[in-house]
Amino acid sequence: MRTRLTDVLGIEHPVMLAGMGGVSYSKLVAAVSEAGGFGCFGASTMSSEEMVAEMRAARALTDKPFGVDLLTAMPDRLLTDVENLIREGASVFAAGLGVPRDVISLCHEHNVLVLSMCGKVRHAVAAVEAGCDIVVAQGTEAGGHTGQVATMPLVPQVVDAVGDRVPVVAAGGIFDGRGLAAALALGADGVWVGTRFIATPEARSAPGYKDALLRTMEDGTAISRAFTGKTLRAVANQTTRHFEEHPEELKPFPDQLMASMTGGWMHLGADERTPGVDPDRECYPAGQGVGAIHELASAGELVRSIVEQAEQALARAGATVG
Ligand SMILES: Cc1cc2nc3c(=O)[nH]c(=O)nc-3n(C[C@H](O)[C@H](O)[C@H](O)COP(=O)(O)O)c2cc1C
Repeated sequence: MRTRLTDVLGIEHPVMLAGMGGVSYSKLVAAVSEAGGFGCFGASTMSSEEMVAEMRAARALTDKPFGVDLLTAMPDRLLTDVENLIREGASVFAAGLGVPRDVISLCHEHNVLVLSMCGKVRHAVAAVEAGCDIVVAQGTEAGGHTGQVATMPLVPQVVDAVGDRVPVVAAGGIFDGRGLAAALALGADGVWVGTRFIATPEARSAPGYKDALLRTMEDGTAISRAFTGKTLRAVANQTTRHFEEHPEELKPFPDQLMASMTGGWMHLGADERTPGVDPDRECYPAGQGVGAIHELASAGELVRSIVEQAEQALARAGATVG
């Protein structure tokens, strides 16, 4: 399936793994890239040294292209990390929060594309005017930090605003090929999928995370400031309910993140062996597509099934109207 996105990234399928902090590590990134999609590291939970080691581990598993997502809210590390990702052979720098103005020309000098995460049309316009090469339009259905506008209205409005200049990628609540077909119908050039890829054997996860995804229904997530101080969609649990009832206890970002870590309900970046995780209190970011996850599937299988199912959905839609 060829689109503008597959052309600029040099990949086979317009399916990107979201750069999920705590989840998108080398095994998952390499599996998605190796299957013809585009793997993106979520490096927000990694030290600079770990990020470099992870990129080398992915490179040992695949010679296909991959990217790295960094939270630009951490300006002290931004330049070093961008220099590292360039040196270690990433082909995309994904900027998780805000437009990374200071490093765009550095990336371009080294043929690294800059991708910007956007939850509003005006974010997308600002990103493209600053020189970003790809825009991800992320709707409120998404797991993790999220805005208020839903994917269905957001994507075509972002396409209208910047789609003549850069590829637009749809995100938020997309978990299978019907979502990819819908995204293409809305004018997007591909999809950026998060939550569905957590329920894979390759994803890194804290204890209880994958089980929580398997049992949570489509209405079982909540947008809460409980975990970081910014609005984040996660599996609803005792922690989200507590802060809903006691909003006066919430601190601004990043103080609330510190409170979550010291309080023991935030272990993003942990692995299955980490002790002390209470599933009824833990931060398990998840989007509204979580209700469709009934089993673990390998990441490569997921990429292939998303593409096959999208082709069927597009053929069916064509037959229905034709
Ligand atoms: C566990 C988790 C961690 C995330 N961490 C980041 C991050 O560090 N940077 C970022 O840009 N987006 C992050 N996101 C958002 C994803 O990039 C993506 O937009 C979202 O998962 C898409 O929606 P979906 O989960 O419904 O597929 C995260 C999402 C999840 C579920």
